[in-house]
Amino acid sequence: MLDTSYYEKADEIIARHTREERSLIPIIQDIQEEYRYLPPELLTYVAKQIGITEAKAYSVASFYENFSFEQKGKYVIKVCDGTACHVRKSIPILERLYKELGLNDKKHTSDDLYFTVETVSCLGACGLAPAITVNDVVYPKMSPEKVVDLLKELRGE
Ligand code: FES
Repeated sequence: MLDTSYYEKADEIIARHTREERSLIPIIQDIQEEYRYLPPELLTYVAKQIGITEAKAYSVASFYENFSFEQKGKYVIKVCDGTACHVRKSIPILERLYKELGLNDKKHTSDDLYFTVETVSCLGACGLAPAITVNDVVYPKMSPEKVVDLLKELRGE
Protein backbone atom coordinates (compact mmCIF):
# COMPACT_ATOMS: atom_id res chain seq x y z
CA MET A 1 0.00 0.00 0.00
CA LEU A 2 1.55 3.27 -1.11
CA ASP A 3 1.26 6.38 0.96
CA THR A 4 -0.56 9.42 -0.39
CA SER A 5 2.65 11.22 -1.35
CA TYR A 6 3.05 8.75 -4.23
CA TYR A 7 -0.35 9.66 -5.63
CA GLU A 8 0.34 13.36 -5.19
CA LYS A 9 3.58 12.94 -7.11
CA ALA A 10 1.70 10.99 -9.81
CA ASP A 11 -0.85 13.84 -10.07
CA GLU A 12 1.98 16.31 -10.46
CA ILE A 13 3.50 14.21 -13.24
CA ILE A 14 0.16 13.60 -14.99
CA ALA A 15 -0.47 17.37 -14.97
CA ARG A 16 2.64 17.82 -17.12
CA HIS A 17 1.07 15.71 -19.88
CA THR A 18 -2.24 15.48 -21.71
CA ARG A 19 -4.79 13.04 -20.37
CA GLU A 20 -4.89 10.67 -23.28
CA GLU A 21 -3.65 7.23 -24.18
CA ARG A 22 -0.47 8.37 -25.91
CA SER A 23 0.68 10.05 -22.70
CA LEU A 24 0.89 6.72 -20.91
CA ILE A 25 4.53 5.97 -21.75
CA PRO A 26 5.92 9.46 -21.00
CA ILE A 27 3.99 9.55 -17.71
CA ILE A 28 5.16 6.16 -16.51
CA GLN A 29 8.71 6.95 -17.63
CA ASP A 30 8.63 10.04 -15.40
CA ILE A 31 7.24 7.99 -12.52
CA GLN A 32 9.95 5.37 -12.92
CA GLU A 33 12.61 8.06 -13.04
CA GLU A 34 11.28 9.46 -9.78
CA TYR A 35 11.13 6.14 -7.89
CA ARG A 36 13.60 3.99 -9.88
CA TYR A 37 10.71 1.58 -10.48
CA LEU A 38 7.09 1.68 -11.52
CA PRO A 39 4.83 0.94 -8.54
CA PRO A 40 1.97 -1.20 -9.94
CA GLU A 41 -0.54 0.83 -7.88
CA LEU A 42 0.51 3.96 -9.74
CA LEU A 43 0.17 2.28 -13.11
CA THR A 44 -3.44 1.46 -12.23
CA TYR A 45 -3.94 5.01 -11.00
CA VAL A 46 -2.49 6.56 -14.16
CA ALA A 47 -4.65 4.31 -16.37
CA LYS A 48 -7.77 5.58 -14.59
CA GLN A 49 -6.64 9.20 -14.80
CA ILE A 50 -5.98 9.14 -18.54
CA GLY A 51 -9.06 7.04 -19.35
CA ILE A 52 -7.61 3.71 -20.45
CA THR A 53 -8.18 0.26 -19.02
CA GLU A 54 -5.85 -1.22 -16.45
CA ALA A 55 -5.28 -4.20 -18.76
CA LYS A 56 -4.15 -1.95 -21.58
CA ALA A 57 -1.77 -0.05 -19.29
CA TYR A 58 -0.27 -3.33 -18.02
CA SER A 59 0.19 -4.74 -21.46
CA VAL A 60 2.04 -1.60 -22.60
CA ALA A 61 4.24 -1.42 -19.50
CA SER A 62 5.06 -5.13 -19.60
CA PHE A 63 5.98 -4.94 -23.28
CA TYR A 64 8.93 -2.65 -22.57
CA GLU A 65 11.78 -4.25 -20.68
CA ASN A 66 12.72 -0.87 -19.33
CA PHE A 67 9.82 -0.75 -16.91
CA SER A 68 10.29 -2.52 -13.64
CA PHE A 69 7.45 -3.27 -11.23
CA GLU A 70 9.94 -4.20 -8.54
CA GLN A 71 11.49 -1.66 -6.26
CA LYS A 72 15.22 -1.30 -6.97
CA GLY A 73 18.15 -0.43 -4.78
CA LYS A 74 20.10 2.81 -4.79
CA TYR A 75 22.85 1.02 -6.71
CA VAL A 76 21.82 -1.21 -9.59
CA ILE A 77 24.64 -3.64 -10.33
CA LYS A 78 24.51 -5.45 -13.66
CA VAL A 79 26.74 -8.46 -13.99
CA CYS A 80 27.47 -9.40 -17.57
CA ASP A 81 27.13 -13.06 -18.39
CA GLY A 82 27.67 -12.80 -22.12
CA THR A 83 30.13 -15.22 -23.70
CA ALA A 84 33.27 -13.09 -23.25
CA CYS A 85 32.48 -12.41 -19.59
CA HIS A 86 31.25 -15.93 -18.89
CA VAL A 87 34.48 -17.56 -20.05
CA ARG A 88 36.42 -15.08 -17.92
CA LYS A 89 34.45 -16.21 -14.88
CA SER A 90 31.57 -13.82 -14.40
CA ILE A 91 29.53 -16.40 -12.45
CA PRO A 92 31.83 -16.42 -9.39
CA ILE A 93 31.43 -12.61 -9.31
CA LEU A 94 27.66 -12.94 -9.39
CA GLU A 95 27.71 -15.64 -6.70
CA ARG A 96 29.91 -13.50 -4.49
CA LEU A 97 27.52 -10.58 -4.83
CA TYR A 98 24.58 -12.82 -3.98
CA LYS A 99 26.41 -14.13 -0.92
CA GLU A 100 27.53 -10.72 0.31
CA LEU A 101 24.10 -9.17 -0.13
CA GLY A 102 21.85 -12.10 0.81
CA LEU A 103 20.37 -12.29 -2.66
CA ASN A 104 19.65 -15.05 -5.15
CA ASP A 105 18.22 -15.47 -8.62
CA LYS A 106 14.71 -14.74 -7.29
CA LYS A 107 15.55 -11.99 -4.81
CA HIS A 108 17.37 -9.20 -6.59
CA THR A 109 17.27 -6.32 -4.14
CA SER A 110 18.82 -6.12 -0.69
CA ASP A 111 16.49 -5.50 2.26
CA ASP A 112 18.14 -2.15 2.97
CA LEU A 113 17.27 -1.11 -0.61
CA TYR A 114 20.89 -0.28 -1.25
CA PHE A 115 21.69 -2.82 -3.94
CA THR A 116 19.95 -4.52 -6.83
CA VAL A 117 21.84 -7.21 -8.71
CA GLU A 118 20.82 -8.19 -12.23
CA THR A 119 22.44 -10.14 -15.03
CA VAL A 120 22.70 -8.98 -18.63
CA SER A 121 23.77 -10.75 -21.76
CA CYS A 122 26.37 -8.21 -22.96
CA LEU A 123 27.36 -4.76 -21.78
CA GLY A 124 29.16 -3.96 -25.02
CA ALA A 125 32.48 -3.93 -23.20
CA CYS A 126 33.68 -7.43 -24.09
CA GLY A 127 37.32 -6.33 -24.26
CA LEU A 128 37.05 -5.47 -20.56
CA ALA A 129 35.61 -8.85 -19.52
CA PRO A 130 34.52 -9.76 -16.99
CA ALA A 131 32.66 -6.48 -16.71
CA ILE A 132 29.89 -5.16 -14.50
CA THR A 133 28.12 -1.83 -14.32
CA VAL A 134 26.93 0.10 -11.31
CA ASN A 135 24.25 2.62 -12.24
CA ASP A 136 25.51 2.37 -15.83
CA VAL A 137 29.18 3.06 -15.04
CA VAL A 138 31.38 0.23 -16.33
CA TYR A 139 33.78 -1.55 -13.96
CA PRO A 140 36.24 -3.60 -16.03
CA LYS A 141 38.09 -6.83 -15.33
CA MET A 142 36.27 -7.64 -12.14
CA SER A 143 36.85 -10.51 -9.76
CA PRO A 144 34.98 -11.76 -6.67
CA GLU A 145 37.56 -9.98 -4.46
CA LYS A 146 37.33 -6.69 -6.37
CA VAL A 147 33.56 -6.74 -6.18
CA VAL A 148 33.65 -7.03 -2.39
CA ASP A 149 35.92 -3.96 -2.26
CA LEU A 150 33.55 -2.15 -4.57
CA LEU A 151 30.58 -2.89 -2.30
CA LYS A 152 32.52 -1.46 0.65
CA GLU A 153 33.34 1.64 -1.35
CA LEU A 154 29.70 2.12 -2.35
CA ARG A 155 28.58 1.67 1.25
CA GLY A 156 31.09 4.35 2.21
CA GLU A 157 33.11 2.00 4.44
S1 FES B 1 30.07 -10.35 -23.01
FE1 FES B 1 30.34 -9.12 -21.27
S2 FES B 1 30.59 -7.17 -22.05
FE2 FES B 1 30.19 -8.36 -23.80
